[in-house]
Amino acid sequence: MREAHVYSEIVQSSITAEQVKAKSPSAIILSGGPKSVYEVPAPSLDPAIYELGIPILGICYGAQLMAQQLGGEVSRTGAGEYGRTELSLSGDSSLMTGWPSATTCWMSHGDAISKTPEGFVITASTPEAPVAVMENKSRRLHAVQFHPEVVHSERGQEIIVNFLHNVAGIAPTWTNTSIIDEQVALIKKQVGDEKVLCALSGGVDSAVAAALVTKAIGKQLTCVFVDTGLMRKNEGEQIEETFMRQFGVDLIHVRASDRFFDALAGVTDPERKRKIIGELFIREFEQVARDLAEGGNGPRFLVQGTLYPDVIESGSGHAANIKSHHNVGGLPEDLSFDLIEPLRALFKDEVRQVGSELGLPDEIVWRQPFPGPGLGVRIVGEVTRERAEILRNADYVVVDEIKKAGLYRELWQSFAVLPAVRTVGVMGDGRTYAYPIIIRAVTSDDAMTADWARLPYDVIESIANRLIREVEGVNRVALDVTSKPPGTIEWE
Ligand code: XMP
Repeated sequence: MREAHVYSEIVQSSITAEQVKAKSPSAIILSGGPKSVYEVPAPSLDPAIYELGIPILGICYGAQLMAQQLGGEVSRTGAGEYGRTELSLSGDSSLMTGWPSATTCWMSHGDAISKTPEGFVITASTPEAPVAVMENKSRRLHAVQFHPEVVHSERGQEIIVNFLHNVAGIAPTWTNTSIIDEQVALIKKQVGDEKVLCALSGGVDSAVAAALVTKAIGKQLTCVFVDTGLMRKNEGEQIEETFMRQFGVDLIHVRASDRFFDALAGVTDPERKRKIIGELFIREFEQVARDLAEGGNGPRFLVQGTLYPDVIESGSGHAANIKSHHNVGGLPEDLSFDLIEPLRALFKDEVRQVGSELGLPDEIVWRQPFPGPGLGVRIVGEVTRERAEILRNADYVVVDEIKKAGLYRELWQSFAVLPAVRTVGVMGDGRTYAYPIIIRAVTSDDAMTADWARLPYDVIESIANRLIREVEGVNRVALDVTSKPPGTIEWE
């Protein structure tokens, strides 16, 4: 829907007709799901919703539910259909106007609609689904058994577009420009002439949030970048370049690496390391906030890069806790801020598009996720300045080669890991005793599970050669071929 330039929200199927009415949506899409309408309990819908006169598109389970609730029938027919399936059009369909009589769609169902509810006509079928698409034109109720939302459904997006634009008559006005204009107006209204603080982490979300707020209120925003000594190569410089020079933002660059390395000296336990980094980060940030507040005119607002998936996961309420860049604690009680969350309605890909539109460089907009504790969770054993430097240089080489090979965007993450062992090697005339670097590259959709990336041998080879040649302190390269589970993505 968002790709069709229409704003959309996800709600629970338990929503009542009254609640729907209060939201007054221009259209409703009922999603698919793994259940059978005959299971007990099976997700259902307040039947009064069908009577609101709002156009509805049911997809897969949503199609079957609509059929069943409106008096049709759903039954288990044969083996079901899974995967690419031939779709034959049999009538004039509002969702598929002008289509040829046959196309392919992506199916995944066991049950199928076996009898349409009164007032519905069948407009397409497949071998195992006599009612693959049905509609009640006058009531603007539509149902498709297949999955228009997956890329394998050849013309799937057209179904969504036709439903939203033609059937429901919604104008495609949700664009990057409209998102930016709307947020800029909201931020201006929320902030008035107060001051605002934003922590930049080097990641996409905080960068785009900061850029949006800058566009809205310019000099009222102060950004803070805490250099923990565990950032990627040139990260601080790049943030300065983008935000100070290009955007003219007031940026406080806290050079805190000495304090981080001091606090981490001798610590090898992964959880302790995380905790130390997280707590020190908060203390550094807090110090900046206190300094700014000293004259009595300190920042009242704090920018957070909360995204729509965070909002859904936290149960659609206001994200209660400040999303810490380091997944620990929050800010101390006496530093209470009102939150500005300009990305709350957006998905990650929208955030990237908005970032580009605002003029952020590709290097920031297309960054792979980077953990809050930074290189600290990729250095096994003690984190020292020297070891962080080795890893930073190695990480740069890995990422550089991955980018050159054109793989950076398709990989979820690709980076270097520094273990706590050294091994013997031979370079030139002498023996060496130095660190190996482990190449970690994974594919994933959400980091909950991941697979190790099958990097081409020649890419592995160029990474390995450069690591040995360019990174002092490294004499061996290994490749991590562990998926998640059982491994994690980071090594800690
Ligand atoms: P693991 O290693 O648990 O990581 O498989 C899953 C994903 O989370 C990222 N990660 C973090 N992100 N703060 C973050 O913002 C953290 O403390 C943190 N630890 C891990 C990791 O990079 C991967 O994408």
